[in-house]
Amino acid sequence: MASAGFFTCMLLALFIGIWPCHAQNVTLSVYYETLCPYCSDFIVNHLVKLFHSRLFSIVNLRLVPWGNAVLQSNGSFLCQHGPEECLLNTIEACTISVYPNEEQHLSFILCLERLASANELNEWINCFNTTGLATVPIDCYKSGYGNVLENQYAAETAQLDPPHKFVPWVLVDGQPLQEDFKNFVTYVCNAYKGEQVPEACHPLPLMNNSLKKATPSYPVCYAN
Ligand SMILES: *[C@@H]1O[C@H](CO)[C@@H](O)[C@H](O)[C@H]1NC(C)=O
Ligand SMILES: *[C@@H]1O[C@H](CO)[C@@H](O)[C@H](O)[C@H]1NC(C)=O
Ligand SMILES: *[C@@H]1O[C@H](CO)[C@@H](O)[C@H](O)[C@H]1NC(C)=O
Ligand SMILES: *[C@@H]1O[C@H](CO)[C@@H](O)[C@H](O)[C@H]1NC(C)=O
Repeated sequence: MASAGFFTCMLLALFIGIWPCHAQNVTLSVYYETLCPYCSDFIVNHLVKLFHSRLFSIVNLRLVPWGNAVLQSNGSFLCQHGPEECLLNTIEACTISVYPNEEQHLSFILCLERLASANELNEWINCFNTTGLATVPIDCYKSGYGNVLENQYAAETAQLDPPHKFVPWVLVDGQPLQEDFKNFVTYVCNAYKGEQVPEACHPLPLMNNSLKKATPSYPVCYAN
């Protein structure tokens, strides 16, 4: 959404004949669950590109660790990959809340998802130390505040329109990339209207509007 400040800036640009406005960042939203191997793969091998070539400088990242989990009538969570996934979804939600800085919480989540890929999850607590964070998110989990956060993520996931078909479910400025999610850099670069084009966007990748409608040719974790 363009702000009043943005329009003021555009007006100013008309007068002075240059474009001094800091265009809005591109919003990249990732709906996922911690133990879906295809979510881990996306985070570890693709989302990690945000750290390269200053791509992070134009992105507002929104990670939503709920995925295909189900909220039961008594309020407890049922996760696709079992209770451990509910625990880790909640830990990641707490980490995002305690460390809202995107590079900080993504570093932790990367560490945890790397361990998940390597089948070494018993060491996930060390990820706080490895990424230079304190273990405050564990207190958040124990206090029950993590469940509050997860309920919010459940509601946000349920409100997706169109609904997610699988995870990882990736959106750029609200547009779902569907099966083309691994090409998120292309979409981010094409959506960015600012002047400070990061190196990752050179040369500007070709936009491919024909989102594939067919069943993905690579695996994902389906809803239901
Ligand atoms: C864009 O993102 C960068 C890095 O996350 C941040 O420092 C900056 O404040 C953001 N700008 C806007 C307009 O949101
Ligand atoms: C909630 O309901 C589910 C399924 O009906 C059940 O397995 C679970 O034990 C219940 N949890 C609590 C805390 O009552
Ligand atoms: C990580 O662990 C080392 C060794 O136990 C310790 O010296 C260091 O302070 C810890 N770092 C953080 C951020 O807790
Ligand atoms: C765009 O995607 C369609 C469908 O997958 C593909 O056939 C086409 O070659 C792609 N075009 C470009 C320029 O990548």
